[in-house]
Amino acid sequence: MTKIGIFFGTDTGTTRKMAKTMYKELGEDLADKPLNINRVDAETLSGYDFLILGTPTYGHGELPGLSADCQEESWEEFMPNFDDIDLSGKKVALFGLGDQVNYSEEFVDGLAELYEAVVETGATLVGRWPTEGYSFEASAADDGGEFFGLVLDNDNQSNLHANRISQWLDKVKQEMGITEAAIA
Ligand SMILES: Cc1cc2nc3c(=O)[nH]c(=O)nc-3n(C[C@H](O)[C@H](O)[C@H](O)COP(=O)(O)O)c2cc1C
Repeated sequence: MTKIGIFFGTDTGTTRKMAKTMYKELGEDLADKPLNINRVDAETLSGYDFLILGTPTYGHGELPGLSADCQEESWEEFMPNFDDIDLSGKKVALFGLGDQVNYSEEFVDGLAELYEAVVETGATLVGRWPTEGYSFEASAADDGGEFFGLVLDNDNQSNLHANRISQWLDKVKQEMGITEAAIA
């Protein structure tokens, strides 16, 4: 059984920070150090049985990358890799960062794009998260009152990160069927 692989996209570093917090909380026995998606290839990703993938939203509801005016390549440029990746039998949890005040009409839409790409790989998605506690007009990542993954709003609700991450990781571990003993 492999550890959990954590991969993130970012422009200004917040999603990296959240990924590092998750890594610390899971511990090095359960997870490998988070890596920026612009530094990995498809094989690295598909080598894991368990994945946590994180993304912010940029542009108008887009994944980070050069066409959303980010400084570096990111998920946008990685996306074509998903056409060739088979993640059947693997468990994947997603998290997304966004700003519910300034981007209330396209809140964490990038999370939905990532979700759609990952679903196509045959992976089992875990770690859905209630929309309760957030206030927004519309989100492509809202599936009937649940987001496709954990949503963190660093611009308006950073005080809630610690609790949200900790609760979500418990849920993710449970849904992935992961225990310390199983990995050791
Ligand atoms: C130019 C720009 C566009 C953004 N567009 C969106 C958006 O469409 N939807 C959203 O929810 N958040 C949007 N955001 C907010 C970011 O997703 C949020 O600040 C996030 O925490 C940034 O993560 P990072 O530091 O990992 O790059 C935008 C921010 C900027 C600066």
